[in-house]
Amino acid sequence: MTAPFIDLGVHHNPRGLSDRIAFSFTKVLRWTADTFFAERYGHRAVVLETVAAVPGMVGATINHLACLRRMCDDKGWIKTLMDEAENERMHLMTFIEVSQPTWFERAVIIGVQWVFYLFFFALYLISSKTAHRVVGYFEEEAVISYTHYLAEIDEGRSPNVPAPEIAKTYWDLPSDATLRDVVLVVRADEAHHRDVNHGFANELAGLPVGEIAECPHHVTLEPNWKKAA
Ligand SMILES: [Fe+2]
Ligand SMILES: [Fe+2]
Repeated sequence: MTAPFIDLGVHHNPRGLSDRIAFSFTKVLRWTADTFFAERYGHRAVVLETVAAVPGMVGATINHLACLRRMCDDKGWIKTLMDEAENERMHLMTFIEVSQPTWFERAVIIGVQWVFYLFFFALYLISSKTAHRVVGYFEEEAVISYTHYLAEIDEGRSPNVPAPEIAKTYWDLPSDATLRDVVLVVRADEAHHRDVNHGFANELAGLPVGEIAECPHHVTLEPNWKKAA
């Protein structure tokens, strides 16, 4: 399987107070995650993907409500953000097949969801530009973390187990695909979210949107009633 090409070195240089707040906040959370998980990349992926799937849905909700009130077009933002939330949830559904969270981690997930959802909702209302910049920086870190996870697999510290079935279906991977193939497509997804969110922040700041890394192919998820028809 050929690895999706992505530019690993993309970084938005913080400009102005909003960017600096977003960048510092991301670095504090990065340090916290590094301290908490160390090299346990499977657990890290499960816990952090429960958080990563929140901003897209918050952004979609707030833009949806704003478009209803203002009776204006959303320029494709709502669908883009909902797709991001779904894609992050599929990352979670994939990694839960690889690593099972401990009871302590499950408790952390519940607590963090309360705090992070409310925090991000408030931030988005106060400054959607800062909120998208935060996600852009989160995704820069996600690309770095999945690159570390790949090294962990390549150097034999994490077993390169067969890819979970759900991942093979969602990304349309070959039947002999492995965890390494999954991490490569997940990392490419994160690079796509990184560029989309920095692009949205740039658009709100009146800056050029910049290049967007292509999103790897995935299938559209359909409800059971549709599958049965
Ligand atoms: Fe993710
Ligand atoms: Fe992400």
